[in-house]
Amino acid sequence: MEKILVRKSNPLKGHVKIDGAKNSALPIIAASLLGTEDIILEDVPDLADVKVILKVLEKLGSEIEYLDNETVKINSSKLNSYQTPAKLMAQMRASFLVMGPLLARLGRTETHMPGGCAIGTRPIDLHLKGFKALGAIILENTDYIGAKAEKGLIGQVIYLDFPSVGATQNIMMAATHAKGETIIENAAKEPEIVDLANFLNKMGADIKGAGTSSIRIKGVNKLYGCTHQIIPDRIEASTFMVAAAISKGDVYIDNIITSHIRPVIAKLREIGCTITEFENEDRVRVIGPDKPKGTKIKTLPYPGFPTDVQAQFMALMTICEGISKVEETVFENRFMHVDELLKMGALIVTEGKEARIAGVPSLKGANVRATDLRAGAALILAGLVAEGTTAINDIYHIDRGYNNIVGKLRNLGANIDRIED
Ligand code: EPU
Repeated sequence: MEKILVRKSNPLKGHVKIDGAKNSALPIIAASLLGTEDIILEDVPDLADVKVILKVLEKLGSEIEYLDNETVKINSSKLNSYQTPAKLMAQMRASFLVMGPLLARLGRTETHMPGGCAIGTRPIDLHLKGFKALGAIILENTDYIGAKAEKGLIGQVIYLDFPSVGATQNIMMAATHAKGETIIENAAKEPEIVDLANFLNKMGADIKGAGTSSIRIKGVNKLYGCTHQIIPDRIEASTFMVAAAISKGDVYIDNIITSHIRPVIAKLREIGCTITEFENEDRVRVIGPDKPKGTKIKTLPYPGFPTDVQAQFMALMTICEGISKVEETVFENRFMHVDELLKMGALIVTEGKEARIAGVPSLKGANVRATDLRAGAALILAGLVAEGTTAINDIYHIDRGYNNIVGKLRNLGANIDRIED
């Protein structure tokens, strides 16, 4: 098993380039099942989760070809199955994203329930509610879950009880071939929703309103090939911004869309960071403060503070002056990093959805576990400022969402290694 060793590091300095967004690439790769012509995707991040979804497509009959490290050609003209392989499904919950495209294209989809996920139960009731509203019959037993609409789907108004990212994406993809117009009310507004809609529109779909809470999809008969560049990963960018802040560093972050990370910029400024944005340039400079001050964050659907940056921010708060507060409202069980940070000498008390963090002068290295992807990133950040060595285990979680985080941090001067145990 591999692990990451982080030692107390000097302030990070230099430039880091952000990759394409995992959470944009996954639904867009799934959406390419809707077309029969060549799809070229650029800036596809080299991540374990991306490999899993590409494998899912291959098992369904798509042809996948890497044109270079970050450019993938997908052709789904020979799509021949509506069943997502159980083994791949178990590896990544986002495999659910093929359900909408399969239902639209083949009139049927079947997949296996992956069981509870570490950060909460994460049901898919809203995805299924959407498919049902479009006229599909939901097929459910102990082994699998599916949907069937042999005569095609019919456009409807669908109200989501919660602006779920995955449900919005799945319904949007299913509705591209539905008869008439579908309106998703209380839709998710994340940049990754807009990227998916832009991609589908390039393929010939008719989608309006992505990025607002009301998305209108007029069904079309056919979708075509296209080339699309995945947007930069706002969560990877935010993680490096926190790395600059926690290490009192001075880091330029390239390939970033600042309008996607407004709450993160605002909260880092409250903590005392100097953040410079450059007109007409996709970069920011983050200078960490000498004495970071505590603050409050509350995670919310976009454009609120992203749940995917909560753990990294909590790592920063452990060394901020005074009491900081975190309220997690998106997922029910996303405080697993707390126990690991406590091992490193942090002072954190949780009660339900809330955590209170009393800043300590310094953390100490410990043997810890990456309990999920963002928790793993948080522990790396804590390790940068902890006395001694922090050993992070179960780093496969980190590989799901960060390409070469060790190399990128080393380039900025971090004392970090990845070793075979
Ligand atoms: N929910 C339901 N029913 C549903 C769907 C969702 O109750 O049918 C609940 C979930 O249980 C959760 C909340 O709604 O409490 C939010 O879930 P959402 O569907 O919005 O999230 P997701 O689509 O499963 C995506 C990202 C997550 C990110 C969330 C929230 C992908 C592949 N995943 O998940 O990313 O945290 O949106 O922004 O896009 C990560 O990258 O580390 C990650 C977990």
